[in-house]
Amino acid sequence: MSSPASSIHLVTDIPGPRSLEIVARREAATAQGVAKLTPIAVERAEGAVVTDVDGNRLLDLAGGIGALAVGHCPPKVVAALREQAERLVHMCAIVASYEPYVEVAERLNALTPGDFPKKTVLTNTGAEAVETTVNLARVHTGRQGVVVFEGAYHGRTNLTMSMTSKFGLFKKGFGPFTPEVYRFPFPDSYRRPEGLSEEDLVDWHIGRLEHCFTAIVDPSHVAAVVIEPVLGEGGFHPAPFAWLKRLRELCDTHGIVFVADEVQCGFGRTGRLLAIEHSGVVPDLVITGKSLAAGMPLAAVTGRADLMDAAHPGGLGGTYSGNPLACAAALVAIEEISSPAFLARARDLGNQLRTSLEKIQAQHPDLVGDVRGLGPMLVIDLVRDPRSKAPTMEETAAVTVEALGRGVITIRAGLYSNCVRFLPPLSITDAQLAEAMQHVSASVSAVAAARKGSA
Ligand SMILES: Cc1ncc(COP(=O)(O)O)c(C=O)c1O
Repeated sequence: MSSPASSIHLVTDIPGPRSLEIVARREAATAQGVAKLTPIAVERAEGAVVTDVDGNRLLDLAGGIGALAVGHCPPKVVAALREQAERLVHMCAIVASYEPYVEVAERLNALTPGDFPKKTVLTNTGAEAVETTVNLARVHTGRQGVVVFEGAYHGRTNLTMSMTSKFGLFKKGFGPFTPEVYRFPFPDSYRRPEGLSEEDLVDWHIGRLEHCFTAIVDPSHVAAVVIEPVLGEGGFHPAPFAWLKRLRELCDTHGIVFVADEVQCGFGRTGRLLAIEHSGVVPDLVITGKSLAAGMPLAAVTGRADLMDAAHPGGLGGTYSGNPLACAAALVAIEEISSPAFLARARDLGNQLRTSLEKIQAQHPDLVGDVRGLGPMLVIDLVRDPRSKAPTMEETAAVTVEALGRGVITIRAGLYSNCVRFLPPLSITDAQLAEAMQHVSASVSAVAAARKGSA
């Protein structure tokens, strides 16, 4: 099933019997509302290699949905966690101060864009951090409105779910949602109207921004604009830089707080520390999470000191926010990910990944409509045919199932769940990436052949 040099080593069918048993127990004991994108149960993981409970070794291209830029269990993170656990597991930053908490904030203040004084607040999850930015923007501006975009994903709390776009998968039956959330269109360069060039689309959307500030909400009512510089769940659409710049100008003109939600696209994922850096736009507040703490639960809001101090003492924070273990892991991850060598390697991996995906697209142009993203944050967008660009959700699921059977973990994305997303640990080796992509290629070929067979 595998050559001696390969990282993948399968000893049972996937899923194996032990995985099936644990997953059945999970189904009996836990709520089905937490999606289960693969049927495997994992025993351990290192770098990009995951070992399941049946002893199968798989390559992980989902990377904990982008939380593992530094890979699974990197030795320096594990050592920092051990050392921290022996000294202080929990204190609560509301009760007393501890240095790792302060140091994470100092590092984020220094590393995020903007040459103005900055401060940081730490939270447990990305959703909490998004809520924090809305609270800060509201108290700072005295306004209520929050502008978000089509395709956005900001979390699962009631406010962030209200800010999230994809209704069927994330919101069905959960209303009422919070008021004062206004959704603007996002430039989708792939599914643009026929005959419109990419430049014309961006120009049209730039004009559309002003229109929306009349047709949808008045700018004087808007506290914050919250934007993912690369849509995550929405299917890895990079926001056009010229459009982001115009959005920034409009925020400046109207005193609106510009918030970059970098929970998925930040921390090395696009080959820069933050995705917004590619555009040169400087946000007022930046939200980081996921890879920030190498898989430990930590997120952060960093930005203009006056804005960060707009909330009264007691208005922010929580029992576990900025927990010492999460901060110890973050300090190692921040050091590693912010190094020029790490980011250069991320860009190199992005080039390799894009080349592989474009090769797959060239082989199957009827099925793979688009290869899209920024750096090593890429999707393939699967379609019924490249003219209509109609999404094909079932075949997308089939590709992920095929890949898993061959020992490669991938997950879906996209407004129509018709994208296979690639968020490999950025510690993956060239050989591991090439091996994984061979199997992804074979999986797409198998699904394309099945389509031809059933035609
Ligand atoms: C862009 C973005 N914002 C916010 C969140 C919410 O983060 P969390 O799941 O940590 O609450 C996510 C999670 O995937 C995300 O991708």
